Amino acid sequence: MTTLLHIECSPRKQRSASLDIARQFIARYQHNAPDTEVITLDLWALELPEFNGEVMDAKYAGLSGTPLTEEQAGAWAALKSLAAYLHQADVLVFSVPLWNFAVPYKLKHFIDVVSQKDVLFEFSPEHGLRGLLQDKTAVNVYARGMDFSAPGAQAMDFQRPYMDAWLGFIGVTNVHSLYVEKTILGPEIDRASRLKSTALALLLADQLA
Ligand SMILES: Cc1cc2nc3c(=O)[nH]c(=O)nc-3n(C[C@H](O)[C@H](O)[C@H](O)COP(=O)(O)O)c2cc1C
Repeated sequence: MTTLLHIECSPRKQRSASLDIARQFIARYQHNAPDTEVITLDLWALELPEFNGEVMDAKYAGLSGTPLTEEQAGAWAALKSLAAYLHQADVLVFSVPLWNFAVPYKLKHFIDVVSQKDVLFEFSPEHGLRGLLQDKTAVNVYARGMDFSAPGAQAMDFQRPYMDAWLGFIGVTNVHSLYVEKTILGPEIDRASRLKSTALALLLADQLA
């Protein structure tokens, strides 16, 4: 059985372009591989743990080998249980809106919480850094209001490069990117863009499942 984790990063549930394409990809994937279990994490419905002083203290206590206090251990357990979603999945689907040239703050919050040593990566002086999410596939659906194929626009893209870098850091190197662009340029353009992106999403689902 395959476990597919969908991480929803848009708060816009009805009109979200990233969710629209991601859901069509997932439906086709599940159609092709009916024993796929789909788990959805809506980052806007979750109470993401604060990365506050307590968690910071837990992090540095862990790094220095100091025993954690009860509160620190509780905070660390909450963080690990969130990261467990990533560990248990075979396929990670991120539906990611572009916000101010980068990812929405809820996704950054999630990444800051779960990206910890011995949780998503390990480090040793001999071997350096190694991501702990091995043998996984990621499918990232990027929604953008404007046209990022325009000359010079890519210099403003801190969405895909950031996601690629983070996923590589935690060990995920089999990464597929889908785009739905020009979503704020009117219904006609939006529709054409969604149709084009849907076709590519279905093709990708057929390749992967
Ligand atoms: C807070 C905010 C910031 C945005 N910043 C950008 C931007 O920098 N560039 C851009 O092309 N579109 C930007 N947009 C438009 C979104 O990328 C676009 O609406 C996209 O479809 C959002 O994804 P969604 O439809 O899945 O929610 C922004 C939208 C919001 C709400």
